[in-house]
Amino acid sequence: MSSKKYITTPIYYVNDVPHIGHAYTTIIADSAARYFRLKGYDTFFLTGTDEHGQKIEEAAKKRGKSPKEYADEISAKFKKLWDEFEISYDKFIRTTDEEHIKGVQKAFEIMYNKGDIYKGEYEGHYCISCEAFFPESQLIDNEFCPDCGKATRIVKEESYFFRLSKYQDRLLELYKNEEEFILPKSKKNEVIRFVEGGLEDLSITRTSFDWGVKLPPSINDPKHVMYVWLDALLNYITALGYGGDEHLMHYWPADYHLVGKDILRFHAVYWPAFLMSLGLDMPKHIATHGWWTRNGEKMSKSKGNVVDPKTVADAYGLENFRYFLLREVPFGQDGDFSQKALIDRINSDLGNDLGNLLNRVIGMSGKYFDFNIKSSDVERYYKDELNEVKKIISGLDELVTKMRWHKFLEELWKILTIANKSIDRYAPWNLMKEQKEEEAMALIALIANILAKTALLLHPVMPKTTEKIADALGFKIDEASFKRFVDDFEMLDEFKIKKVPPLFPKIEEPLMKEASKEEKKSVLDNKTFEDNIITIDEFFKVQIKVGTVIEAEEVKKSKKLLKLKVDLNEERPRQIVAGIKEHYSPAELLGMQVCVVSNLLPAKLMGIKSEGMILAAKDEEGLTLISPQRKVKEGTPVK
Ligand code: ME8
Ligand code: MG
Repeated sequence: MSSKKYITTPIYYVNDVPHIGHAYTTIIADSAARYFRLKGYDTFFLTGTDEHGQKIEEAAKKRGKSPKEYADEISAKFKKLWDEFEISYDKFIRTTDEEHIKGVQKAFEIMYNKGDIYKGEYEGHYCISCEAFFPESQLIDNEFCPDCGKATRIVKEESYFFRLSKYQDRLLELYKNEEEFILPKSKKNEVIRFVEGGLEDLSITRTSFDWGVKLPPSINDPKHVMYVWLDALLNYITALGYGGDEHLMHYWPADYHLVGKDILRFHAVYWPAFLMSLGLDMPKHIATHGWWTRNGEKMSKSKGNVVDPKTVADAYGLENFRYFLLREVPFGQDGDFSQKALIDRINSDLGNDLGNLLNRVIGMSGKYFDFNIKSSDVERYYKDELNEVKKIISGLDELVTKMRWHKFLEELWKILTIANKSIDRYAPWNLMKEQKEEEAMALIALIANILAKTALLLHPVMPKTTEKIADALGFKIDEASFKRFVDDFEMLDEFKIKKVPPLFPKIEEPLMKEASKEEKKSVLDNKTFEDNIITIDEFFKVQIKVGTVIEAEEVKKSKKLLKLKVDLNEERPRQIVAGIKEHYSPAELLGMQVCVVSNLLPAKLMGIKSEGMILAAKDEEGLTLISPQRKVKEGTPVK
C-alpha cells in the first residue's frame, strides 16, 4: 500500500471573490489532508488560482485593469482567505507561475509529437462563462449553453485539436474497471452516458484573444493561446514539477481531486484523456460534491445572495463552521445554507452532545476523584459499551476514504451518544452513594476515553477545538496517539483531568444580520456601476422588438398570469405568458403594442410555454407596460 496521499482542490477562477462554495471544497480537502497526515501518510495538498482565459480577460477589461494586475489582486484574496482559515495547503499554485507555464508547454509538445494534437479549423458554439465548447446538438434552442443557460457565441477560427475521440474506449474501460474513480458512485452514470454519446475532438487553442499560455517554442505558432481548461487541469502535475524540476512527481497520481459537480466532466473525461496521452497514471478518485444554495437558489454575485465565508466564520467560529459544512449535507448532494441550521448544529451536536459531555466529565472527576482518573477497570465494568464503540470506530476510516464526511461525523456522534447514555443509565452519583467507587471511576474513565477518541477522530475537522479537549484529558493529538488510541484502541492509563472553559457557548439568536430587501437592493444598485457594467456588444445581445397583442386570455387558477399571442411579424405569433393579470384585463390588451425581449430562453410558467418577455415598469402605483409613442410596424427592433 502506498504511503502517500495527494489531494487537490480546483484552482479557482479569479473573476470572482471567494464564497462559501469555494470554502466548502477547500475545507473538505483540508480535512482530508489533515486526516491522512494524522494517520502518518506523506501528504501533499494543493490549491491555487486559475488565471487565464477569455472570462478573466473580459473581467479585467471591465475594471480597466490588465489581466495580470487583476489576477494578482483576486488571487491574493483567495490566498489570504485560506491563510486566515488556516488551510493546511502545501502549495498554492497560480497558472501565471513561470514553472506552470513551462510545464504546460512541455505537455502540449509531448501530446503534439505523439500525434494527439493536430491543426484544423473550429466552427462552433462557445460559452464564455463555462469556458467550454458545445456541439450544436447539445445547445438549448440552438443557442444557449446546456450547463449554465447563458447565450453561447459562435466562434470560427483556426484551432489545434486534441484527439479526444481516440480515447473514448479507454475512458469507458477506466470507468468500468475503477469502481471508485468517481465518488460518490451515483455520479458515474452521467459521465458514462456523456462519453457513450460520442466524443468529438477537442479544440484546445484560440486565436481571438491573448490572455493564455502560448504554444511551445518548438511549434512556434504565435497566433494561438491554449484553451484555459487544458492549461488549468495540467496544474495538478505542474505543481509537482512536471516538465521541469520533477522532484515532487512521486506524489502523482493524485489520490483525490475534490471538485464541485459543475466541473466533473472536465475532470472525469478530459483530464484522464490528457493523462493517457501523456502516458501518466490515472488519478485515484474524482470526488464530486453538490452545490450550496441560498433559500433554494444557487448563490451568485449578481443575485446578491452570496454568503461570505469569512463573515460566517467570524460570527460563529471557524471550526464550528467547518463542522457544519461537512456534517449538514451528504457528500454529492446540494445543500441550503441558513443560519438556523448552523445554530442548530452548534447548539445541539457540538454544545449538547460534545461540549456538555466534556463538562460533565470534568465536573464529576473533580467532585469524586480530585481530577485523578485511571482506566484500569473500564474493560471489567463496561465491556459492552467498549465493544460497541470499537465497532463504530472501526468503520470510520472507510467513510473518510470515500469522502463521506457527513456519514463519518454522524457515526462518530454515535459514540458520544453511548457516552451520554451511559452516564444517565449508570448514574455515577448513585454509584458513589452506594460506595461503588471503582465502578464510578471506571464509568468516568469510559467517558473520558470516548472523548479522547472523539478528539482524535474529529481533529481533522476541528483542529484547535479538539486540541483543547485533548489538553483537558492530558494527552497530545499526534500520529502516535492516533495509532495508540484509535487504531489500536488502547485506553489512556492514569491521567489528570484539567478544567477548560466551555467550548461551545449556547447561541441564542442569529449572529449575522440578514441583509434586508432594501440592503440587497442597494447592493445590486451599487454593483450596477462597479461590477455590472456591460459593453455595447453585450447590450446588443438582448433583442427587443415591438409587437402587437392579437390574443389575450386568463390562465385559469393563476392570480397573476395572462396568456398572450403577440405578432412580431414572424412566421407565427409568439405565445407569451405575462404576470400582469392584476393590472390589465385581456380586453384592454387587444391591439396594444408592447416591447418584447425576443431572444430569451423559452420558459414554462404553470406548464404553459412562454416565448418571450414583455417589458413593463412598476412603482408604488402599480405596473404599466412599455409601449411605443406611436404605432410602429410589428417586429421593429428597439435600440
Ligand atoms: O471551475 N457550491 O473555477 P471556479 C459548492 N477554474 N461549491 C461551489 C459553489 C457552490 N455554490 N460555487 C463554486 C473553475 N463552488 C475552474 C476549475 S480546476 C483545474 C479549474 C466550488 O472558480 C466548487 O468546487 O468556477 C466548484 O467546482 C468550484 O468552486 C468552481 O470554481
Ligand atoms: Mg464556475
